[in-house]
Amino acid sequence: MDRYCVFGNPIGHSKSPLIHRLFAEQTGQTLSYEALLAPLEDFSGCARAFFAEGLGANVTVPFKEEAFRLADTLSERGRRAGAVNTLKRLDDGRLLGDNTDGAGLVRDLTVNAGIELRGLRILLLGAGGAARGALAPLLAEQPACVVIANRTVAKAEQLAHEFADLGPVVASGFDWIDAPVDLIINATSASLAGELPPLAPSLIAPGQTLCYDMMYANTPTAFNRWAAAHGAARTLDGLGMLVEQAAEAFYLWRGVRPDSAPVLTELRRQLAAG
Ligand code: ATR
Repeated sequence: MDRYCVFGNPIGHSKSPLIHRLFAEQTGQTLSYEALLAPLEDFSGCARAFFAEGLGANVTVPFKEEAFRLADTLSERGRRAGAVNTLKRLDDGRLLGDNTDGAGLVRDLTVNAGIELRGLRILLLGAGGAARGALAPLLAEQPACVVIANRTVAKAEQLAHEFADLGPVVASGFDWIDAPVDLIINATSASLAGELPPLAPSLIAPGQTLCYDMMYANTPTAFNRWAAAHGAARTLDGLGMLVEQAAEAFYLWRGVRPDSAPVLTELRRQLAAG
């Protein structure tokens, strides 16, 4: 049996095994996909042992940077992200590192939500791993500009500098900006703690600005509640991004693109049921 897995720590609540099982059923692919708890101090040993047999792995918190270092070769988007969420064993045994998170975000925005990103003024909140992974795929859509706003402004400046060759991208503090934008993407981990970056409500043009939180939960996130309260035209959460990053990984491994829509519907149903 072709073996795949997701590594993380913790890993118990990962939805990836369910998503990939549904993809495999739907596309008629025969494979196994399991959640593996890697020890914090030995991700690379654990991954190497798996790849003695295994064909591919997803990598989640806190191992994406270690997976980046483990990979023998990198996709361009993996290299740009500085983090790897998908590993694939190549025919010659080398490990290819890829990052499908940003592509998953863009696909969720453009295909699932039907939003054309070209020409939009985008505000990206956060300058950690999630924001970094999103930048190259976002800039490839040719937005008018991407403003990266972060609590620690120096990190936003570093990211803006690193990605400047891919398009118009600038750095900011949260409280430096108040003019309306077209799309706000929350890539901070603030929602995890139920917190909000301190943002001017005037960033939202009522009835026009779209808001996307990379986080998701069974009730709207703090960021999406804030966005809705100030009149955002739409609020979207990161469940679609989760399914789409998995679909991109499945495509990389199997050469078959699954239909994400019924899988997203099933996950949404399960999330609502608690
Ligand atoms: P991830 O991989 O989820 O991006 P990370 O690399 O640790 O995680 O980055 C977390 C991001 O969320 C950072 O941009 C962080 O801001 P700092 O760079 O200033 O630390 C941001 N963040 C976390 N908690 C936050 C909060 N309560 N308010 C605003 N930003 C927050």
